[in-house]
Amino acid sequence: MIKHRTGRAQFTSKFGLIAAAAGSAIGLGNIWKFPYITGVYGGAAFLFVYLAFILAIGLPIMLSELIIGRKSRRNAFGAFKKLAPETPWRFIGSFGVAAAFLILSFYGVVAGWSIKYIVFSINNSFHSSSPEAISSAFEKFITNPVGPLFYQILFMLMTGAIVIIGVQKGIERYSKVLMPILLIIIIILDIRAVTLPGAGDGLRFLFHPDFSKLSFEGVLSALGHAFFSLSLGMGTLITYGSYVNKHNNLVNTAIQVTFADTLIAILAGIAIFPAVFAFNIEPGQGVGLIFVTLPNVFMQMPGGYLFSVLFFILLTIAALTSGISILEVVVAYFTEELKIKRRTSTILATSLIALLGIICSLSMGIFSEYEIFGLNFFDQLDFISANLLLPIGGMFIALFIGWSFGKFKVMREVAHGGRLRGWFLRIFMLLVKFVAPIAIFIVFLQGLNILDFIFALFSGNH
Ligand code: TRP
Repeated sequence: MIKHRTGRAQFTSKFGLIAAAAGSAIGLGNIWKFPYITGVYGGAAFLFVYLAFILAIGLPIMLSELIIGRKSRRNAFGAFKKLAPETPWRFIGSFGVAAAFLILSFYGVVAGWSIKYIVFSINNSFHSSSPEAISSAFEKFITNPVGPLFYQILFMLMTGAIVIIGVQKGIERYSKVLMPILLIIIIILDIRAVTLPGAGDGLRFLFHPDFSKLSFEGVLSALGHAFFSLSLGMGTLITYGSYVNKHNNLVNTAIQVTFADTLIAILAGIAIFPAVFAFNIEPGQGVGLIFVTLPNVFMQMPGGYLFSVLFFILLTIAALTSGISILEVVVAYFTEELKIKRRTSTILATSLIALLGIICSLSMGIFSEYEIFGLNFFDQLDFISANLLLPIGGMFIALFIGWSFGKFKVMREVAHGGRLRGWFLRIFMLLVKFVAPIAIFIVFLQGLNILDFIFALFSGNH
């Protein structure tokens, strides 16, 4: 990035922006969360619904966020204040800042597990362990009250440090090199996984849909995950969009980032599910899925030791480039709106988020008996932020572009650096004005059982 005349930082190259935006999108969401929730919600049917949401809702909202960011050159909150002064739209931004807090707090916990797995890998801890032993080692680690906190805080410190010493040099430069290496390792893992005996069952689980297995909650989670995985709904891409120069073709950027993100998720699924079936692991077991499955795969491959170390290092880095983008939303808000110095803002935000993360981490072990609506604190934060806050944020972002910002400004902003065909604009406007908001609304009513709830209220049997 370079400083622009206006004093705001900018990405230096087209590839730099794509790498940073893809670095934000590609993270634990793709490699940890996508396989685990696909397992919980029954496999291929979930995947197909997810893909439909990515195309019809994710992609247009990603373009909307980039447009809002570049046009306003502000943080998530300031952007709306600038583009639609004196209107309530700015609350979309406050929503986003709140979501960033919650998401990063549990994100840091899982990223901490990933760091611990670098250590496990270096020590060759799983060498000749049975799948059951690997599984209980994972359980033992995450429920321990001390170990995970150390790694979670370490991750938060690294995230905060990068945000302080240079989003500029940090994000752009490292993302460019590391993301492609991650891709290559995942492809190598895929090759090993699909050649395991019994791999076919895993591929069938992932690609052969049985829609009768899909629940409304599964559909809601597919929607929430489309937002989570693409880093949408809370202003990350508004913030990054604000660092993009005028000549960038935002449509291409949105398409490329969406494609890369989805590709990595599917490749991660191909690495996991064949192995899940080959080693008799329970696909719906939840948050531990990759941490329990992948060590088995590494043990079954030549050079497994090296790949394992490398893989968890890269997973941690992928988590870092995403974590930075979440923290950046809060920091940009603190500095531009509350006029707190960047350094102070970062320290403040990082500490508060790390504190919340500690509670999250402890909810896996000593606090596990405290449940809110049947979920522990960790799962609850994940559920509320991904499945509620992000889709609501996304719905308002789409409505904003469709109804307030409008077609002509969209055209002016987008056609700047690229060509825009008439049909493209028409479809895009249709998606942001109607399709995305209505779809989100319906999924909400169903997924949260709100209709059932209202019905029960009226029929008096609750
Ligand atoms: N998309 C990232 C992942 O898949 C996580 C992430 C980064 C995120 N920025 C975000 C999620 C903004 C929601 C909103 O791991």
